[in-house]
Amino acid sequence: MHVMADYIEDADKAAVPIGHLQPTLLESGKNLMLSNDCKSCHQLAEKSVGPSFNLVADKYKKDPKAPGYLVNKIKNGGGGVWGETAMAAHPALPENDIRQIVQWVLSLGQEPETRKSLPAEGSLQPTLGKPEKEKGSLYLTAAYANQGGPGIKPLTGKKTVVLHNSKILFSDANRRKDFESVGFNGTVYMIPPKGEGWVSIDSIDLTNVFSAELAAGYQTPVQYGYEFELRLDAPAGKLLGTAGLTPAASANGKFNFVLLKFQFEPINDGKFHNLFITSKLMDKNEATQIGLGSLRLLAK
Ligand code: HEC
Repeated sequence: MHVMADYIEDADKAAVPIGHLQPTLLESGKNLMLSNDCKSCHQLAEKSVGPSFNLVADKYKKDPKAPGYLVNKIKNGGGGVWGETAMAAHPALPENDIRQIVQWVLSLGQEPETRKSLPAEGSLQPTLGKPEKEKGSLYLTAAYANQGGPGIKPLTGKKTVVLHNSKILFSDANRRKDFESVGFNGTVYMIPPKGEGWVSIDSIDLTNVFSAELAAGYQTPVQYGYEFELRLDAPAGKLLGTAGLTPAASANGKFNFVLLKFQFEPINDGKFHNLFITSKLMDKNEATQIGLGSLRLLAK
């Protein structure tokens, strides 16, 4: 079992690091090797009928063509590289399996994995080492691969849990209706429509969250204003709170941005929820366009 924690600054949910897959893939490559006939002719460190896997890894460690070459060699068999004895062909072994085995063999020639797995059980301080980080989300990934058995492929599995920063930024990935996303100075802003619309922030743990602050920015103060609602799990779900951007508030806002506060009872059911921010205009003649920059969850 490998448990990894990664801090992703970019709010782009698609950016889950694939490095997480590596230990699992390597492990299953090794297990595939063990569940095939390879070990009858190859050992890890000592010469047998065929060369040791350590020597093979060493020989090809700087060769970019090695993966493709070795896959073909194992598939078709052959000799002459390490001596006169030829390797048997493996026509029945799926190419994908061979590829995983080759990845494992070649990994033996690389520096050992420096990122150790976290323990399979225990607690984790998400801010550890990154206390200054304002943006981003913590991705916790658990992956496993079992040993498989004779003729049985190893099983692998992977699950990622995303822990958001208390200050949640928007991204193009946010689900929304009629909101537009606009990037400005490295931040993605959600622009409420002229009518009504919503944007959602998915899978959030609201345990002991008593309020939320929505950052709203604008170029000129609003004339009539915007009204926002915070709703649970659906655009018309349970109402958590309302907040408005009024002409007075926006005229007094520093640097053309204000924090709008929603106050509510925490949702302590231990589940992840989707938060919906709905928006509507106080008056259809509102001419000022505004942008929502972030939502901060607060414990008071
Ligand atoms: C019947 C014995 C035998 C079996 C079974 C066998 N090998 Fe080999 N293998 C050899 C021999 C002998 C060589 C050396 C061939 C040569 O000198 O070109 C070799 C070479 C290799 C090489 C290096 C190839 C090169 O050109 O440098 C790799 C990698 C390898 N084997 C992987 C495997 C894997 C993976 C399996 C299981 C799917 C496997 N072998 C099964 C005998 C075997």
